[in-house]
Amino acid sequence: VINLFQPAVGHDELEAVGAVLASGWLGNGERARRFESAFAEYVGSSASQILTVSSCTEGLFQVLATLDVGPGDDVLLPSISFIGAAHAVRSTGARVVLCDVDPLTLNPTVDHVERALTTDTKAVLVLHYGGLPGEIAALSSWAREHHVLLIEDAACGMGSLVDGRHCGTMGDAGVWSFDPAKLMTTGDGGMIWCRNEKLAERLRRTIRLGVSTSGFARSSDTGRWWEIDPAEVGRRATMNDMAAAIGLVQLGRVPDFLRRRQEVATAYDDALGNLPWLRLPRPRGSDVAHTFYPVQTQSGLRDQLAVYLLGRGIYTNFRYWPLHRTGLYRSDTDLPGSDMAAATTLLLPVHQCLTDAEVKEVIAGVRGFPVPADREL
Ligand SMILES: Cc1ncc(COP(=O)(O)O)c(C=O)c1O
Repeated sequence: VINLFQPAVGHDELEAVGAVLASGWLGNGERARRFESAFAEYVGSSASQILTVSSCTEGLFQVLATLDVGPGDDVLLPSISFIGAAHAVRSTGARVVLCDVDPLTLNPTVDHVERALTTDTKAVLVLHYGGLPGEIAALSSWAREHHVLLIEDAACGMGSLVDGRHCGTMGDAGVWSFDPAKLMTTGDGGMIWCRNEKLAERLRRTIRLGVSTSGFARSSDTGRWWEIDPAEVGRRATMNDMAAAIGLVQLGRVPDFLRRRQEVATAYDDALGNLPWLRLPRPRGSDVAHTFYPVQTQSGLRDQLAVYLLGRGIYTNFRYWPLHRTGLYRSDTDLPGSDMAAATTLLLPVHQCLTDAEVKEVIAGVRGFPVPADREL
């Protein structure tokens, strides 16, 4: 099966993990610090604003809690969002308020966000759908004007820039994901960026049970490294050094990953652009990552295309099922753009491990799909 996602890991990652195993220190340590510094340099930030975390989902939970979002607050997010983002909001006691998205980009516009604004809105939590930044620069100014926090779920935004600035660093906090389906992986893991260094400092504690430093590091103060005095309640969400070692290798390979994805996307653009029943994503500049390659058909046809491609050994999917269509986050508000996107969009494989032969197979699969009459878009 040609998969939608596939991690590109090899000898260098194996060697890096081997060195951690040989060192005898497997937990959070020097490699995690080095990964944070290297990542900070990659996104053009200071290392004091960056911290590793066990996953992006956990990062979102911790960021919302640490920004003191809680009962009585509303957090606004697009209905086409990762389910864990909504859970992160709900877990604080705040209300999840959903806004619509543009059915073509699957990102919300400032207008969509504005329409969902309530007097209790404390934060807006947006993602960069499939790597596409959306109106993030305008949203960032809007959020500042309205005294609303802007949090970026940058899980799919790694490698995407707007006016030279990395997605994930445009609001008050951003979180990237390194799970195996993402541009780069650490097995599981995430990275948090905070505009405010004090927030980063607090997060460094809350991901470590509320304790600021390891017992051994404290021992120089007290001479008794077993004493603890947590500043607040926290959880355990640190990244271990095996994951960080993989991350350091993967980060160096990101430019190649981005280039290969761009090549695959261009091959799809060229070969599928003239199909009257298929809409392709708008061409992206070289500084926008292809985390997804979303195509669109008429409603109904999308499901048939997915089944047809699966029959030819090509796995596709649709992300993210609208939150307002789930039992937990059902909403009475009409969100037609989200419904339209969910009925018409399919993600084709676009990862860096695809061979030229596989790219040709995907193209042949889509072009060979027997389309009933009058299904033009
Ligand atoms: C948009 C988005 N946000 C967050 C996540 C969660 O990332 P993680 O698996 O690192 O928790 C994902 C994972 O699929 C995602 O696609």
